[in-house]
Amino acid sequence: MKKLYIVMVGLPARGKTTIAAKLRQSLSRDSIRTRIFNNGDLRRKMIPENTSYSGFFDPMNKEGVALRKKIGLINTERARKYLQGAGNVAILDATHASAARRKQIRSMLSDHPLLFLECFNQDQEILEASILRKIDLPEFGHLNQDEAIDSFKQRIAYYESIYSPLSGEGNFIKLDSLNNKIIEEEIFDDVPYLDQIRDLLLTDMVRNLFLIRHGETHFNLENRIGGDSVLTENGLAQADKLASYFRGKSIPLIFTSEKKRTIQTADPICRMQEECSIIPLSEFNEINSGICECMSYEEIKKGMPEVYYARKMDKYNYIYPDGEGYASMEKRIERGIKKALYLSRPMDNIMIVGHRAANRMILSHFLFRRREDVPYIYIPQNKFYYLSATQNRKVFQLMPYC
Ligand code: F6P
Repeated sequence: MKKLYIVMVGLPARGKTTIAAKLRQSLSRDSIRTRIFNNGDLRRKMIPENTSYSGFFDPMNKEGVALRKKIGLINTERARKYLQGAGNVAILDATHASAARRKQIRSMLSDHPLLFLECFNQDQEILEASILRKIDLPEFGHLNQDEAIDSFKQRIAYYESIYSPLSGEGNFIKLDSLNNKIIEEEIFDDVPYLDQIRDLLLTDMVRNLFLIRHGETHFNLENRIGGDSVLTENGLAQADKLASYFRGKSIPLIFTSEKKRTIQTADPICRMQEECSIIPLSEFNEINSGICECMSYEEIKKGMPEVYYARKMDKYNYIYPDGEGYASMEKRIERGIKKALYLSRPMDNIMIVGHRAANRMILSHFLFRRREDVPYIYIPQNKFYYLSATQNRKVFQLMPYC
């Protein structure tokens, strides 16, 4: 079988490790032996002292530079040995920020084709959120949150000072890692597995996604839409049942909307987990029904028949006056999904607690549905959707939890 080196390139928090894990997972599934050589992991293993302080990454810190160089060389050598043996694809996961470092790698790894994969993320808000996730690592445990953020940002600044984007360095793909888009590509050699790799980079994959609708609210009982109603006794009991159901599964992050009903539903689930955080995202808020907010369907039909019937005619495209429609929610929902995937670690289970219309849009992102059918997808409150969507397999199951 053919052999390939993939060398990740990019500043910290640009999604390199997630992409590397995604590649390994999918290639391995096709019996292509793939291993990741991660410099950060090796640094933490090799150096018992804490190396998370930003000064360690200062290009003027000779000792730090030497240590990081040594770690890079060890991993490069290990990757070479891996391909000399049974391995097919060796992925070097580190910033590889300077052209000099990359030149050295190219000269050391000349026995098989090499593909540079440079990751970009220009979205400041998601970058900030990603930094918050990074500082969860145990190596930042001795710092408070602000100190850890400053330290990580300083680390990025040090890398920025020596960073040069890829140019004229053989085979490369530049990837917008948030939006799964190839920005630029140049391929000179016969790069094995290239079609598969390209396809993978463009595919949104999720291993285990639990998509839950919030529990019953007072507004649900009155058939009222929108608003910020809280859960009923029954809704609270549903949340407790969900919590017991998920106790045995690890859910490190629960994404909710900003509405009380989703956070209230996520709360007991989170409390039953050993380690879990709730991340409310405005992108997962329920459809904004504008002038109809807090009204019941009956009140709309009676008081604003033109709204009621126009919506009935074309529910997907209809936009509530001063509000939204399914079609106009598409972009923000998509952004919420990107955020959730970007912030989750590659093998993590992902949970989203959302709303009826929002969840319909999330489901249709992963599973093709004709647009006109999306506003009618069944989103009950006593069951949740389990989704697994990878390059080769899509699973979509409605699961009862009580
Ligand atoms: O009734 C609950 C609710 O989530 C409302 O807030 C929302 O307007 C509605 O469902 C969306 O469903 P539909 O598009 O079928 O009216």
